[in-house]
Amino acid sequence: MRTETPVAVKLQDYAPYPFTLNGVELHFDLGAETTIVKASLSVTPHGTGPMHLDGEALKLRYIAVAEGGGAAKPLDLADFTADARGLTLHTPPQGPFVLETEVEISPESNTALSGLYLSGGRLCTQCEAEGFRRITYYPDRPDVMSSFRVRMVGPKDAFPILLSNGTPGTSGELPGGRHFAEWIDPHKKPAYLFALCAGDYDVLRDTFTTMSGKTVDLGIHVDKGDAPRAAWAMDSLKRSMRWDEETYGREYDLGVFNIVAVRDFNFGAMENKGLNIFNSAYVLADEATATDADFEAIESIVAHEYFHNWTGNRITCRDWFQLCLKEGLTVFRDQNFSADMRSRPVQRIKDVIRLRARQFGEDAGPLAHAVRPDTYGAIDNLYTATVYEKGAELIGMLRRMIGPETYRKGMDLYFERHDGQAVTIEDFYACFETVTGRDLSAFRRWYAQAGTPEVRVAETWDAATATLTVTFAQATPPTPGQTVKHPVPIPLLCAVLDGKGGHAAANGASAEPFLHGLDGATGTLALRLPPGSPRPMLSVGRDFSAPVRLTRALSRDERIALVKAETDAFNTWDGLQTLIKEELLALSDGSQTNPNLDLVEAIANAVRGAMHDPAFAALLTRLPEVGELFLERQPADPVALAAARQKLQGSLCALLAGEIAATLSAPAPAPYHPGAEQASVRALRTAFIGLLGAAATPGAAETLSGLYEKAPNMTESLATLRALTFTPGEAKAKALAHFEALWTDNPLVMDKWFSVQASTGTAEDVKRLIAHPAFDLKNPNRVRAVIAAFAMQNLAAFHAPDGSGYRAVEATILAADKVNPALGARLLTAFEQWRLLEPRAGAEAQACLKRLIEAGLSENAMDIAGRALGKDG
Ligand code: PHE
Ligand code: ZN
Repeated sequence: MRTETPVAVKLQDYAPYPFTLNGVELHFDLGAETTIVKASLSVTPHGTGPMHLDGEALKLRYIAVAEGGGAAKPLDLADFTADARGLTLHTPPQGPFVLETEVEISPESNTALSGLYLSGGRLCTQCEAEGFRRITYYPDRPDVMSSFRVRMVGPKDAFPILLSNGTPGTSGELPGGRHFAEWIDPHKKPAYLFALCAGDYDVLRDTFTTMSGKTVDLGIHVDKGDAPRAAWAMDSLKRSMRWDEETYGREYDLGVFNIVAVRDFNFGAMENKGLNIFNSAYVLADEATATDADFEAIESIVAHEYFHNWTGNRITCRDWFQLCLKEGLTVFRDQNFSADMRSRPVQRIKDVIRLRARQFGEDAGPLAHAVRPDTYGAIDNLYTATVYEKGAELIGMLRRMIGPETYRKGMDLYFERHDGQAVTIEDFYACFETVTGRDLSAFRRWYAQAGTPEVRVAETWDAATATLTVTFAQATPPTPGQTVKHPVPIPLLCAVLDGKGGHAAANGASAEPFLHGLDGATGTLALRLPPGSPRPMLSVGRDFSAPVRLTRALSRDERIALVKAETDAFNTWDGLQTLIKEELLALSDGSQTNPNLDLVEAIANAVRGAMHDPAFAALLTRLPEVGELFLERQPADPVALAAARQKLQGSLCALLAGEIAATLSAPAPAPYHPGAEQASVRALRTAFIGLLGAAATPGAAETLSGLYEKAPNMTESLATLRALTFTPGEAKAKALAHFEALWTDNPLVMDKWFSVQASTGTAEDVKRLIAHPAFDLKNPNRVRAVIAAFAMQNLAAFHAPDGSGYRAVEATILAADKVNPALGARLLTAFEQWRLLEPRAGAEAQACLKRLIEAGLSENAMDIAGRALGKDG
């Protein structure tokens, strides 16, 4: 069997839907095996053509049309066509009418987790992007907005709680142990924001008083017994609601806000109007079962979904090409929320790590696409790092260029002008053109052009005139389907460093950092210092002011001097990262056998100097991941790179031995609090634990076992377990067995047990994990904990030159794709880097992709595999 690549959808083919929906009434007769959905759509046609409604996996039981307030008349078979993709009314009435349909669906057999499905015995929905068409016949596109009334009927014992969007209407008992509930959403919304949940939950309740004094009832719905573990999510929700009022002037617009946690979910969470549905991994946390990273992720995802209420829901996307309109903007908003809750520089560095790890790789491979692409294959595959993370960077650049006050004015205008509409990136930028009076069309090129721009920076110093002349040159490498690239406006935040921890004034201006815009392919910046000044150093790309790769031809000593002179936290960290990358490349290709001591000393000194800011110090100990190094030089040899990494970690561990011992012998902060202050202390502790494991010195296993046994929380428990996986001997197996026995009944913690082994072990380990009775193809978290952890975090083993890594997961990827195409496709993105690999692994990866295609993939997976393989694949 071979599947065909999906037909491409093109932005230029966009046409408005020729019908308006004035209102939608849905009636659900709920059952796990069979659910009956009656829909009544009130329609006004604009024209005389046929009416197409999307529909997938629906069994049509009834269809009728009512005209002019009259009774509904069932349609003749000749009046419509229903096929696997939807329903077409050949000659709908020319005046307003009501379309009534009744379909049967089967939640229990829905393993794709799109539409209405069963998870842990409860019903829930996932409609973004195109899941609503698996619930009823409907124009399932974001520019069709309507108000919804929903009535749910079902057995009270199985489904005691019935939730949908908006606010509750009437509810009551029915004969035969059944009951019903109505929900009314007054806000017009596209179908992708529809949600329904039915089941038995424990509910954590709270209230929030909005800035205008309205009370909102908050409820987080979780598995029985889990309500205390939703406390941090609730706290994060209330802080998000306040932050959006204070920072963007946005108030919540309903009396009710519900969150439901589900175990089986394809992504992180979903912003359905008034009823967010979350992967339970991003709701449930306490010190015993969740790490600081989990708490941090919960805080940011709760915020992200909440912020969508304005950026996504009140104002939505005209079509899916505009996905970044809501996602890039909302990520930018959640990143700033997190920065305000925690440390802004540390948050910035973490955001850049994520961008470089995921988005730069995407941009450098066969799946590269623009932030606003003009064509796509499978829509589920457009939820990418480029749309989300690079999309967020573009908003950040805009804000930096126009300044925070003007940015806020532009946002205010956007909310005012487009509330209740489905709009485009052009509409968004038009608001900023209005408030700035500037033409932003050159900047919008960032949205259309794929690939990461490379900016070369070179300096010359003229002592006679005390002038530092800086030249800039930008170029973007070609990407699939887009060979010709144009310059984009690049805002570079700069400062002139005096080498004494401060700034020097140039050109008679103040010594403050300044924004230098590189608009064309090349540019020059002349910095004239007071006569007789010593040569200054240039700090450029401060705070990662643009999502580009900056290159500077500097020697190791010059870079070390620059790091010492830096005044920007991001650049201090990044300067060391650049040095470390060069070092790792030299160690991996054999041109250098041992780590350079000046460099290791520079890292260690930076760490020592940052001990007062432990989260920052922790980041300074971090070495770039193997995948990040793929981009630095090809062909990439993951095995050699991983070995080089470990060697350098060993040297760093030795130099920092004193600090490590002192830090780890101090008591962990108690009582536990997930907030930034304590998390920062734990971040350094776990970073040091990681170094101990990587260095795997004699005695490390014993030290780590000791730490594991008395770990006071999951953060340290998991860090020590992970570190132990690198050590030889019995300790590792003993700790893994202990951890498994302790947590066997907690699926989220067991995901960690699986992923710690998959991300550090061998292909044989992964086979064993797949064969484990608790491995579950139907649970995306579990599949990702094994397959994605191995294929995306354990690159030396996954890309083993003999192909053993690929063979270990191949059959499971195929099986996962059969069950859940969105998941299958996501796993396949692990192959996107194959062309960058050394030839043996590269050939094995290519062969594996071909075998997968031959075996038959879903349309989603085929979209990824086909592009990954490329035309000549
Ligand atoms: N819109 C969701 C989010 O922001 C992501 C999502 C997409 C979830 C598709 C489920 C399905 O973050
Ligand atoms: Zn989102």
